[in-house]
Amino acid sequence: MKKLLVANWKMNKNGKECLEFIDSFKAKFSAKRDAWIAPQSVFVKLVINSGVPAGLQNCSEFIHGAYTGEVSARTFKEMDGHFVILGHSERRQYFQETSKNLNAKVKTALKEGLVVIYCIGETLAERESNQTLSIIGDQIHQGLNDLSEAHAENLVLAYEPVWAIGTGKTATPAQAQEVHAFIRAEMAKKFPSFGDKVRILYGGSVKPDNVEELLAQKDIDGGLVGGASLKASDFLALCGDK
Ligand code: PGA
Repeated sequence: MKKLLVANWKMNKNGKECLEFIDSFKAKFSAKRDAWIAPQSVFVKLVINSGVPAGLQNCSEFIHGAYTGEVSARTFKEMDGHFVILGHSERRQYFQETSKNLNAKVKTALKEGLVVIYCIGETLAERESNQTLSIIGDQIHQGLNDLSEAHAENLVLAYEPVWAIGTGKTATPAQAQEVHAFIRAEMAKKFPSFGDKVRILYGGSVKPDNVEELLAQKDIDGGLVGGASLKASDFLALCGDK
């Protein structure tokens, strides 16, 4: 399977900047690797219209109704949306999301036919007290509890150590590989028919100058990228198109 690079634009870029990025990106993108983009939700249509697989950075656990401020996975799928990022550490940190309450969102989004990029990762304090693998295990088992195997095939996992996000500190390829191998083994146990084939992305200060050594690791299938996805030339470089 091709490596997958996902741009998480967070709450950045206005409409004009989105369009400029898409034009520059499409002019040079060779599809050697897969590339998906999650803009602010108000701009998803711009990405969908460009033909690049488009994603939300969050969605509701509910499908429709009186839930002011929420965005529906069903509506997004109907407009040809492709994926949703769930459980990003910024959502866990600032918006009280936990693996347990994310489980409902994961189920809804998968049931509606979206690919779910489920994010997990430890804090620095957890790493320093040797809890990384137990934290990751809990995040997997709580967030992905009770999924039907048929729906779960649309899962992508993203390992994002909290201490590496937006800090310029990347996990070393060996540190990342160790956790990715653990995630793969847990997924294989949980979903015996396909768990070992789930794409596992690394996220946390992925940049053009460290991407190749990360992607060379056996269990790293791609990257979820914040800062370095904001400039078309950088994102192209991550996609292998200089
Ligand atoms: P970063 O963000 O690449 O800026 O570290 C990654 C992410 O938050 O997904």
